Amino acid sequence: MKAEDIHCLLEKAEAVRKKSYSPYSCYPVGAALLAEDGTVYTGCNMENVSYPASLCAERNAIGSAIAHGKRKFSAIAIIGSHEDYTMPCGICRQVMAEFHVPLIICGKSPEDYRTYTLEELFPSSFKAEELIHKENL
Ligand code: THU
Repeated sequence: MKAEDIHCLLEKAEAVRKKSYSPYSCYPVGAALLAEDGTVYTGCNMENVSYPASLCAERNAIGSAIAHGKRKFSAIAIIGSHEDYTMPCGICRQVMAEFHVPLIICGKSPEDYRTYTLEELFPSSFKAEELIHKENL
């Protein structure tokens, strides 16, 4: 992926981060998901007084894309803290694996980031092929 496209995706993550509803952790996160057709879907974390009901930025972005009928993706960019690279949690990695998001970009800012492949962040994942009812996929 070109550096300018990564920068553009991180800028979108930074913009949606400002919409985060995170009064409990005070840790706003934004994510921008690039679909294969070039459309970008964004999401921010959304917390709840009943903590387990909270949702991460990445899964909100992926959910939005799915609701728009998209199933194929090129990359996801994430910005949480500006002091450190925010790495996706285990549940988000599992969801990224479901939709084969191949590239994960973790940014401190649109200019300062690290990239990882899905295989690097989530190796040896449980595969849909192992299920009996795979014809439903
Ligand atoms: N969070 C995300 O939205 N994405 C991540 O990659 C890491 C964590 C959220 C969950 C919670 O609202 C807050 O950050 C602190 O854990």
